[in-house]
Amino acid sequence: MLKSFALQKHALERIPGMTQLLSKRPDMFSRNIWPGYYSRAKGATVWDMDGRQYLDMSIGGIGACVLGYADEEVDDAVIRAIQDGVACSLNCPEEVRLADVLCELHPWADMARFARSGAEALAVAVRIARAHTGRDVVACCGYHGWSDWYLAANLAGDSALDGHLLPGLEPAGVPRGLQGTSRAFRYNHLDELHAIVAADSAKLAAIVMEPVRSDLPEHGFIEGVRAVADKTGAVLVMDEISAGFRFCAGGAHLALHATRPDMAVFSKALGNGYAVSAVIGRKDIMQAAQQTFISSTNWTERVGPAAALACIKAYAARKPHEKFFRFGQRVKAAWKDMGERNGFAMHVGGMDAMAHFSIDDPDFSSFKAYFVQCMLEEGILASNLCYLMDAHCDADIDRYLEACEKTFAKMAEARERGGPARRLKGQPALASFRRLA
Ligand SMILES: Cc1ncc(COP(=O)(O)O)c(C=O)c1O
Repeated sequence: MLKSFALQKHALERIPGMTQLLSKRPDMFSRNIWPGYYSRAKGATVWDMDGRQYLDMSIGGIGACVLGYADEEVDDAVIRAIQDGVACSLNCPEEVRLADVLCELHPWADMARFARSGAEALAVAVRIARAHTGRDVVACCGYHGWSDWYLAANLAGDSALDGHLLPGLEPAGVPRGLQGTSRAFRYNHLDELHAIVAADSAKLAAIVMEPVRSDLPEHGFIEGVRAVADKTGAVLVMDEISAGFRFCAGGAHLALHATRPDMAVFSKALGNGYAVSAVIGRKDIMQAAQQTFISSTNWTERVGPAAALACIKAYAARKPHEKFFRFGQRVKAAWKDMGERNGFAMHVGGMDAMAHFSIDDPDFSSFKAYFVQCMLEEGILASNLCYLMDAHCDADIDRYLEACEKTFAKMAEARERGGPARRLKGQPALASFRRLA
């Protein structure tokens, strides 16, 4: 058995669910063929445990590696930080510099706090917003991680309805007493936020939302959300964990919105794969962090801020978003064209830097797994997502799209000859969780 598969089998015995992140589970792609583990990654190339080499056109470290894998500029800064000691009894000066840099990029913000994962930083932001307002209820829109404050949106009065708002995110283990403290509304559906406010306006502590996801904001949507925050006194928090550093150096809201939030949260692209996350905000709100207890040992280590400073500097100089717009639009147009020419009902969406497609077919799980399989045979890690990195070049996109062209033709042939499931060497792909569309 190949090392990659033997390790997956062993991990299933030792680690519940095999991985620490749903999106990196091999069954999200196609179990028994997806390599699962890597031995080395550099630029946009990945080597698996068996030394097989791939061009990675899949999830780019699930959006964390905005520059590319093992980026020399970022790694050099991290190596220097390690050589100077990553932790001691004093604090690292890099975190103060990082707070300055983030506030310079976002002039509406005055202060910053740091954590190491996205969900942690969001929990910090929600705690600060609740402390500042003295209220409990959070209106949320989009995906915000695994924390209790967010999964509480899936606690229904009747446990049979648990999970109905954000399908695929199970709230087992989240105290039922949190029911009603988090309420979800859909992107571009201002009426749904108004309905939450009508029911709970006196209790609304925060509105937590992604600045953009599948769709761009419709005219008046963000302004409408801002007006609700202003009217109710709720804190408007932009979750920039995925969208940040895809449209410009900093939050997507800088490029896409006419108004500004009260707080914003970053992770993923902020550290190019190193663990770091940040909450920035207005001083009057951020100071509420002092009325509560928000404190953790490993939030003081040096690697995260050192990586973030180097990553922001490299991003500002290289401006990879210009490439993301060009490549992403090319990929999206090609998927749609290839799919439709082969008779598939295609849905293509997402930010240019983080595009996705789906096919309107009851057996989409098998089609997706067959896509993964055919692309692996071309030496490419791919799925129905394509997250771009600065390390991608024109030749990578050419090679990727040529492989897609062949793969869509094979998928059409499979559809005509008994369906894709019969051709799978692995398992059909598992459905991911779905955001409220
Ligand atoms: C918008 C958004 N918020 C929060 C998170 C959670 O971040 P993390 O996985 O670092 O906890 C993610 C991760 O995908 C995300 O995309």
